[in-house]
Amino acid sequence: MRNALNKLADSVQDDSVKDRFENEMDSFFSLFRRYLTDKAADTPLDWDKIRSPGSDEVVDYVSLSNGEDAAANLSKLAVLKLNGGLGTSMGCVGPKSVIEVRDGNTFLDLAVRQIEHLNRKYDADVPLLLMNSFNTDSDTAKIIRKYQGHRIRVKTFNQSRFPRIFKDSLLPVPQSFDDSLEAWYPPGHGDLFESLVSSGELDALLAQGREVLFVSNGDNLGATVDTKILTHMLETDAEYIMELTDKTRADVKGGTLINYDGEIRLLEIAQVPKEHVEEFKSIKKFKNFNTNNLWINLKAVKRLVEANAIQVEIIPNAKAITINKAEYNVLQLETAVGAAIRHFKGAHGVVVPRSRFLPVKTCSDLLLVKSDLFFLEHGALRLDQSRFGPNPLIKLGSHFKKVSGFQQRIPHMPKILELDHLTITGNVSLGKGVTLKGTVIIVCSDGQRIDIPNGAVLENVVVTGNLTI
Ligand code: UTP
Repeated sequence: MRNALNKLADSVQDDSVKDRFENEMDSFFSLFRRYLTDKAADTPLDWDKIRSPGSDEVVDYVSLSNGEDAAANLSKLAVLKLNGGLGTSMGCVGPKSVIEVRDGNTFLDLAVRQIEHLNRKYDADVPLLLMNSFNTDSDTAKIIRKYQGHRIRVKTFNQSRFPRIFKDSLLPVPQSFDDSLEAWYPPGHGDLFESLVSSGELDALLAQGREVLFVSNGDNLGATVDTKILTHMLETDAEYIMELTDKTRADVKGGTLINYDGEIRLLEIAQVPKEHVEEFKSIKKFKNFNTNNLWINLKAVKRLVEANAIQVEIIPNAKAITINKAEYNVLQLETAVGAAIRHFKGAHGVVVPRSRFLPVKTCSDLLLVKSDLFFLEHGALRLDQSRFGPNPLIKLGSHFKKVSGFQQRIPHMPKILELDHLTITGNVSLGKGVTLKGTVIIVCSDGQRIDIPNGAVLENVVVTGNLTI
């Protein structure tokens, strides 16, 4: 492997990128070596050592005092959106953050509007950072130009670009520095720490007096700056806070905080021995899960990265890729930002209301966030006051996998204030001004088509073909 990586480094012609590339290959090499060592050691988690976190390790949001020093504390804050991912899973090209999610606004527009509002309200200057990947950088650069002149500083930097490896030989896929994009991958959001430091952004933030970085997934519309959590972080001197939220049956697979051998850790489903998976999913034993809204002390990041101390579980992600019409099975070694919690002093979880976790992973989520259940307030989605109980469970079938299919079949959002459960499968279209209440199931068989007419009110019904029950 070392020789192959040296060969890649030798293929760099441009001196201005040589250093960065060599550093990346060194980092990749340590990750790869650790992967081999961990695999050889094959030491699974000892289930008996797992304890529920103590009351000082997970605190409730409602117990936090008011963010009284909000304005002063905001001078210590920077916000970062993880922006390395593409919109491919929703059938879009380019960065996921540029998908239109609400009233003509993209994920990125909403993040910008939220922070602009915060800066105006508190007369603050909180900067927004975007951690891009080589997949999203150039498109993002074009898009953020429009925020020049707004009351917000938007800064971007790139995360690492690592070589994919062949599953069988474990050798790198790329043959040269400028080999095709398919040969490389962004190594997960756990790469944040190293990339913050190597890009120089961490030092730049410290020089501005910034102490805390609020990190969240670019696709979580609930991840707004919360001054109560910021004040709590500063008052408790915690170096890392993970926002957790109570599990429902829909999110039993989310990672959860545990106490392992006296140390706080994030437990992901992939680490759980098969015989304990059901226990892991139970809402009783593991009550809440990681939202990936994280508050991280910047000086601590510098200290840990410089000591090379952030060593988190490696997630091998197997993929089939096509290069020059040939298919290959490859591996990409990834890490997650939440797993680093164990390395930070005073790290703990805060259980936040569900409204801070509003991810858009599928078009079913898109229907929810575009609906009348929410309204937009300064870039943040607020729940309609008349709504009771949890958000409706929405399951749209494969015809709605791509945003284009979704827009074509549901051009006008139905009214869903009184909806509990919606399932739609097959070639179904909704007209304008449709109202859905209770449990609505619409199933259209192959080769058929169902059009729900304008103004229809469907309440607790199953619609199949031409049959209405
Ligand atoms: P994903 O969308 O891939 O992860 O990335 P997930 O399965 O929903 O949830 P996690 O991993 O448990 O949080 C979540 C966020 O991380 C960014 C994506 O752009 C998205 O905003 N990301 C992911 C990166 O910035 N870099 C990466 O290498 C991977």
